[in-house]
Amino acid sequence: SGKPVAIGIHDLALATSQHSLSLTDLADHYGIDPAKFSVGIGQDVMSVLAGDEDIVTMAADATARILERNGTDGIRTLLFATESGIDQSKSAGVYVHKLVGLPATVRVVELKQACYSATAALQFAVGLIARDPSQKVLVVASDVARYDLGSSGESTQGAAAAAMLVQADPAILEVENAAGVFTDDVMDFWRPNYRSTALVDGKGSIKAYLNAIGGAWEDYRAQGGAAFEDFAAICYHQPFTKMATKAHRHLAVLAGGNPTPAEVAADLDETMRYNRLIGNSYTASVYVALASLLEHHDGDLTGARIGLASYGSGSVAEFFGGVVQPGYRERLRGAEHAAMIERRTPLDHTAYEVLHKTTLPEDGREYRTARETTAPFRFAGMQAHQRLYETA
Ligand code: HMG
Repeated sequence: SGKPVAIGIHDLALATSQHSLSLTDLADHYGIDPAKFSVGIGQDVMSVLAGDEDIVTMAADATARILERNGTDGIRTLLFATESGIDQSKSAGVYVHKLVGLPATVRVVELKQACYSATAALQFAVGLIARDPSQKVLVVASDVARYDLGSSGESTQGAAAAAMLVQADPAILEVENAAGVFTDDVMDFWRPNYRSTALVDGKGSIKAYLNAIGGAWEDYRAQGGAAFEDFAAICYHQPFTKMATKAHRHLAVLAGGNPTPAEVAADLDETMRYNRLIGNSYTASVYVALASLLEHHDGDLTGARIGLASYGSGSVAEFFGGVVQPGYRERLRGAEHAAMIERRTPLDHTAYEVLHKTTLPEDGREYRTARETTAPFRFAGMQAHQRLYETA
């Protein structure tokens, strides 16, 4: 009864890897112009996981920091979004549930649709909270983007997790009701069960992304969503930041505009800072972009409408808007995230290649990983076909 409750993102924490690789070093190794990556792809550095890190350790790191600040009261659901699943049956979220000490009275499930599923998770969370506004939902997105050495996708690798506390009366972003969606069965990017790296039709994937985001945008408008000029900023899924600029121009043209490359770059700059330094983080990427915008914007965005444009190959896209909440700046974690990006150890190309080629046994053999990460949680190895995790 009465006014419908505002529901959305109350807190947002990111985590990334122990190591990094400069794309200048990657360009040097292949003897190509570094501007191909810094300008052509729009990436400077990629996050590289240590041998004792995975999607669970990054997700637990980000989630633990959310719980440190907010406690566990009211949390009854954890939705884990990933396309780098570690088990065909058990949700990676159940490992996180234990590592961060959540109570038994929390339901946990994993969602998959390439890079899109964290957006589905956020919308499902909003639905649960609309039914019972006393409940809170953890939405956790965690992924590692891996392509073959020497492949065209190699420069677009990366890794990160984004954990969000979704609740009524959120402190950061109210999620608005209007949402546009678009699904089309295409083979632009996929990873069959027997592979650890993805297969990709690079050029086809760019077309598929633009087509799907355009479709989601048009559906958003048909659903009564806001006009293009009503958005203070739009955060796009960023497989590489140049892709976001292509998508932004595409939507601007659909909306009747014709922005110059400089205008597009200026519109998106603040949304791309973290992604330029992390690389593709698949499900987490659009929420990394949201953190990047809010944490790099000098002025006050209170009351501003922000667009979120989510894409997952295969393919599903969704466009929706959110309104920035009063006092949001006190909830941001800009210093924490800058330190996390800064403290990664840069690998030289040889060390990166060794790490990339080191595939952990996947035939059920028992092994222990060497201690490498300084993160709060680590993947310790396999025993009796079970993954072992440790708290540092
Ligand atoms: P490529 O063949 O290495 O690059 O592949 P290219 O030759 O097309 O060059 C890229 C850009 O750099 C071009 O600009 C060049 O002109 C420019 P554009 O025409 O695009 O504007 N360039 C230079 N610029 C300045 N100085 C230079 C220079 N040289 C060239 N010297 C490709 C690029 C993206 C295909 C490759 O990286 C790839 O396959 N990546 C993986 C797939 C991908 O990220 N696709 C994105 C859309 S699909 C998606 O987002 C979903 C995804 O996240 C997964 C999921 O949903 O699960 C991937």
